[in-house]
Amino acid sequence: MTKRITESKMKEEGLISLPDKNELPQHVAIIMDGNGRWAKKRGLPRSEGHRVGMEKIRKITQICLDFGIKILTMYAFSYQNWKRPIKEVNFLMSRFKRYLDKEIRELNEKKVRFQVIGRAEKLSPSLQDKIKRAMRLTKDNKDLIFNLAISYGGQEEILDTAKVLAREVQRGYLTPEEIDKNLFRQYLYAGDLPYPDLLVRTGGEYRVSNFLLWQIAYTELWITPVLWPDFGRKEFSDALKDYANRVRRFGGTKGE
Ligand code: IPE
Ligand code: IPE
Ligand code: MG
Repeated sequence: MTKRITESKMKEEGLISLPDKNELPQHVAIIMDGNGRWAKKRGLPRSEGHRVGMEKIRKITQICLDFGIKILTMYAFSYQNWKRPIKEVNFLMSRFKRYLDKEIRELNEKKVRFQVIGRAEKLSPSLQDKIKRAMRLTKDNKDLIFNLAISYGGQEEILDTAKVLAREVQRGYLTPEEIDKNLFRQYLYAGDLPYPDLLVRTGGEYRVSNFLLWQIAYTELWITPVLWPDFGRKEFSDALKDYANRVRRFGGTKGE
């Protein structure tokens, strides 16, 4: 059984009141940006920002478990980040390995289903292997689905999905007319998941940087200047409270 902290305990710790359960997002996506700037401000190498940033992930999965959020998708490394200096890429890859080695057992104990989304074929065989093992180990867990986007691009995902569907048509398993939004969604990297309700971006940039392009068509956006290594429970709660006051119309007229 996952341990959740009560609202009164959170208040005691100076930790905010939360919106009602039914106003909480079911799926939160996060663009973890600002590691480099965080390090630079402190006169440290960028790698130090990535090290602290990676450690923050554990805190965020715990907050989601505490708050009862069911799906979390975090952007750790974009397909376009491969063009960064090799030293930085290698450092990030070694941190991903370390993350898997250190955290998966505990995630499994906390009933978290862990998945990596992205073009995994670009990753080293040993990292691919660790990812496969982690996904296999946690595949039946139900308290939180945690998708970590590594080597991920939203345009790449749409292209990869289109290619798989085209092959299905070529083999005669599908007709082009059968391809609708529901079917398309089933072929996305993470499978048939509800789309994000809330997308958080740290680091203050007003862009989506190729994250979940198909899935965020009607997602609420929340952007904070706080740099990723400084992001914590207070900022997450601010985002949730803001989300609770949004009126989602999906093109209709609800709320008028
Ligand atoms: C986000 O931090 C992490 C990755 C993209 C891997 P950045 O490394 O982009 O940090 P800034 O945006 O340069 O501060
Ligand atoms: C987005 O951040 C990717 C991740 C947070 C993993 P970037 O730092 O790569 O985005 P841009 O380059 O500022 O758009
Ligand atoms: Mg950045």
